[in-house]
Amino acid sequence: MNLLETVNLKRYFGDTRAVDDVNLTIADGEFISLVGPNGAGKTSLCNVVSGLLTSDSGKIIFKGHDVTHAAVTARVRAGIARSFQLVNLFDDLSAFDNVALAVFSREGKIRNMAALAHLDHDVIVEADNVLGQFGLAGKRNETARDLAQGERKLLDVALAYALRPKLLFLDEPTSGVSTRDKGQIMDTIASVVRGEGITAVIIEHDMDVVFKYSNRIVVMHQGAILAQGTPDAIRNNDQVAMILLGSSGPDAFTRKD
Ligand SMILES: Nc1ncnc2c1ncn2[C@@H]1O[C@H](COP(=O)(O)OP(=O)(O)OP(=O)(O)O)[C@@H](O)[C@H]1O
Ligand SMILES: [Mg+2]
Repeated sequence: MNLLETVNLKRYFGDTRAVDDVNLTIADGEFISLVGPNGAGKTSLCNVVSGLLTSDSGKIIFKGHDVTHAAVTARVRAGIARSFQLVNLFDDLSAFDNVALAVFSREGKIRNMAALAHLDHDVIVEADNVLGQFGLAGKRNETARDLAQGERKLLDVALAYALRPKLLFLDEPTSGVSTRDKGQIMDTIASVVRGEGITAVIIEHDMDVVFKYSNRIVVMHQGAILAQGTPDAIRNNDQVAMILLGSSGPDAFTRKD
């Protein structure tokens, strides 16, 4: 059985076809990169599947259940979580408190911020474990605002991971960081995701990163899926090269400028 299936999924903004008749199936354990030029609809698709945006029509089937009209919280409980293109942290709280809040929210324990003063032992242990898995143990007590950009991106992923998803959408987890930090962030994410058997969909512009880490690449253009396949198949797809890089030919993906 597919983990996720979207059926003729659509979401328009006026005349803009942000998500246009998308039929996407995702199997358990895949590590998928979702790519496409700016405005292709990647974030919108992620928003519709995770419930931040309603769909205009079509269906979203997760683990065999129709979640098309389910609330975000119900989708999180079912096992869908996502991180954000622009990180979504509590800037005034420490790295630890950010993760602890995510653990709390998953358990449905959080009623108000005062609950943080009464963290139970299990939450503390789990939040520290999550920070450790993402290499952020040394930053435990630092205020989120003071973290480096790469650390903020990782912390945002850690918050989504702390919801214990089966399917994790990561919206540009390496945007705005140096090439060297990108590798470290992706190695960390890949190791956690694979180690825990989580199915991941990563939205990413850097094709070096995409080719290195994905089992499958899905290419979006103008709201629709233009192509999908293995890294090799996509690397040799001239139409994809033209759409992504504005040039055709086999050297398009290795061009550096
Ligand atoms: N809230 C909104 N209101 C109106 N139009 C929107 C809204 N969100 C997205 N769009 C439009 O929908 C289209 C798809 O946008 P989306 O953000 O999903 O693209 P993307 O592939 O994530 O792009 P990027 O790589 O720049 O993040 C774009 O034309 C965008 O302007
Ligand atoms: Mg986007």
